[in-house]
Amino acid sequence: MNDPRDIRIPELFNGQWNRNYAASKLRTDPLYTALAEKLSASPLPLLDLGCGLGLLAFFLRSRGVDVPIHGLDYDSRKIQAAKLAAERSGTTGVTFARHDARSGLPRHQGNVSILDILQFFTPAEQETLLKLAAARVAPGGRLIIRSGLRDASLRFKITVAGDLLAKATRWMKAAPTHYPTAEDFRRILSPFGDVEISPLWGRTPFNNHLILLQRPESA
Ligand SMILES: C[S@@+](CC[C@H](N)C(=O)[O-])C[C@H]1O[C@@H](n2cnc3c(N)ncnc32)[C@H](O)[C@@H]1O
Repeated sequence: MNDPRDIRIPELFNGQWNRNYAASKLRTDPLYTALAEKLSASPLPLLDLGCGLGLLAFFLRSRGVDVPIHGLDYDSRKIQAAKLAAERSGTTGVTFARHDARSGLPRHQGNVSILDILQFFTPAEQETLLKLAAARVAPGGRLIIRSGLRDASLRFKITVAGDLLAKATRWMKAAPTHYPTAEDFRRILSPFGDVEISPLWGRTPFNNHLILLQRPESA
């Protein structure tokens, strides 16, 4: 059942496609609730890489998370929609900018999120982005990633098909390039802190997992 606090978020967006997408994501995907749980106790600012329409930012605000949130995405249509939604709703402390995460990251010290975007990067680009993101996590902060994991499951095959469909319908600018394994995340992120990996697919058929890097208080 929808939480009444989520019902107004889709109405912030122009266009039936954006509104339907936002409503369906909020209804079926456990992602945003999981992020709110992991971030609600933290006073640190959040950098959201590949923010899309900014759903995470609006959802966190609806759950009382009032830290500064900066969302970056290379799709200017989505950034425009996110900015308009922030303006329309009078949401403060939430900013969005067009930025290609393959060209480096801005200065930041806080928490970082990377949700459902790594599949668009080559293995080398993924490793670079993960290291840059981990280096921007403040002591005691978290890097929270959601990614489909490459393995032998049927869920993984459905994940690939879903991303190909998103490209065919032009919802995504790019087709998937490479999916990391659980071992890739452990190898790349363990030098920065504790890494936990757990399933996060809810009622979706996808092989989505939550990867959590917790940096020690004294990094
Ligand atoms: C599946 S959507 C996820 C959106 C958002 N993270 C969420 O979970 O609500 C993937 C997003 O990654 C963005 N993206 C893909 N490659 C990118 C890149 N190189 N730099 C920045 N954003 C990128 C896409 O434009 C898209 O908005």
